[in-house]
Amino acid sequence: FLSIIAAAGLGYFLGSLNFSIIVVRMMTGRDIRDMGSKNAGLTNTLRCAGKSCALLTLLGDLSKGIIAVALARGLCHLLHAGLMPGNDTHYIGYIAGFFAIIGHVFPIYYGFKGGKGVLVGAASFLAVDFKVFLALLAIFVVMLALSKYVSLASIISTAYCPLATLLMSWLIDGYTFGRSFLYMILSLPMAAMVIWMHRSNIQRLIDGNENKFSFHTIDMN
Ligand code: G3P
Repeated sequence: FLSIIAAAGLGYFLGSLNFSIIVVRMMTGRDIRDMGSKNAGLTNTLRCAGKSCALLTLLGDLSKGIIAVALARGLCHLLHAGLMPGNDTHYIGYIAGFFAIIGHVFPIYYGFKGGKGVLVGAASFLAVDFKVFLALLAIFVVMLALSKYVSLASIISTAYCPLATLLMSWLIDGYTFGRSFLYMILSLPMAAMVIWMHRSNIQRLIDGNENKFSFHTIDMN
């Protein structure tokens, strides 16, 4: 139980470090949440503040997700608190990852107004199960290439997250179906949260006025 509380705390407080807010404020003096789509995330940073800010955001937000999951799993090992056979710490990784998304979306340091959690969610999977990360990345890249909408690619790849978690654990890692199913259940809140945060994008996609992906910086104010 102690490791679950520690994982949630580590996830939330590290996840709350929103690098698009930090980097854009440092480099331009502006608040990314007043620019473009108003989202404190990688896509909007690239769109409104340029490639250098976007690269730093990418590195920062990826790192915080990986560090949150790795620290939580390491701590769980130290406490010998693994509740699953073989002192398995996978489940602690999902808990840390979920709370890192919550921190990113509702950051305690920035008035509880952050991003949508795609990048930190991806980073969590990179640290929990990199095969799931690779599968979702492949779906993301194909969807982005076909549609040119980052939001659509994010939504579709996230929707596959629970299924990818189940299949990778069961068929590739060789875990029992029951254990793989538990991992799938643990991944569900992460996916649901990220998709829920894209509801304004879904509306724009339906209305036909969603922003298309571009490497060019647009001053949308
Ligand atoms: O990950 C966020 C992306 O899917 C959409 O961002 O700024 O276009 O709302 P944005």
